[in-house]
Amino acid sequence: MADISVIAGPSSPDLAAGIAGRLGADLVSTELRVFSDGESKIRLDKPAGTKCVLVQSAHPPTDTNLMQAMMIARKCADDGAKVCLVMPYLAYARQDRAFLEGEGVSAALVARLLEASGVSAIVTVDIHSQMALSYFKNARNVSSIPLLAEHAGKMKIKRPLVVSPDAGGADRAKEFARLLKADAVALKKSRDRKTGEVSIEKIDFDGSGRDTILVDDMISSGGSIIKAAEVLRKAGAGNVYAMCAHALLVGDAAQRIMASGVKDIVATNSIPGRYAKVDMSAPLADAALLAL
Ligand code: R5P
Repeated sequence: MADISVIAGPSSPDLAAGIAGRLGADLVSTELRVFSDGESKIRLDKPAGTKCVLVQSAHPPTDTNLMQAMMIARKCADDGAKVCLVMPYLAYARQDRAFLEGEGVSAALVARLLEASGVSAIVTVDIHSQMALSYFKNARNVSSIPLLAEHAGKMKIKRPLVVSPDAGGADRAKEFARLLKADAVALKKSRDRKTGEVSIEKIDFDGSGRDTILVDDMISSGGSIIKAAEVLRKAGAGNVYAMCAHALLVGDAAQRIMASGVKDIVATNSIPGRYAKVDMSAPLADAALLAL
């Protein structure tokens, strides 16, 4: 596509190349320098043209990746381009409302900052809440569930039971199970709003002899998956797999999850890394094209 370019943000070069390939678009590389105080300086290797798809996920270092997205978008918009930002992992989406008195709505702030930087449309993957997207004027969310379920279908999973660690993810698990022709249940999770400590309750289901697939939008500290896997094992489940859109896997989360007995972690390439096994470039390219 001659009039569209795809800009490879420093956090997502491979995904950007995949999207450019799908669109048959020109790929613009970015050259990044980080100064000793942590400040980023970015240069595009060629002009972005009139329409561009900027690909930059906002996984850790979250604020740096977010800032770099704003810097690139501003440069492209100043040069006259219409900018569609593909930010598969949109940081701050969990702060879509004030949960405790004195808190701000940071998801709304992020939307205002990105739009002020020249982003005219945003495409995300498995956004944590629709409320977070509602702060943007032009936003689209792409579900990872069809491709994750397709991947699960190729794994040797025995009598799969699809499990959401919390009630909020029940519909996600149901959709996954529908595509896999399996059953779904949702556990009951509660989180201490001050400490972040998670507890998960068993609900009434028989997991004996069944392999289970824990499905979540993101795995960050791994706390939710580890606690949920514990509940599933007590319910007699066989192998436990963890699948998600966004494998943030902060610190030693992956090692702790595997040490807790989870057989494998499968994630999309919304965030690059060892567990990014499911390629989202095709649906993201389609969504970006519609958004532009
Ligand atoms: C929360 O509601 C999300 O859907 C995830 O379950 C959560 O953010 C995962 O975080 P962690 O891995 O730190 O438990």
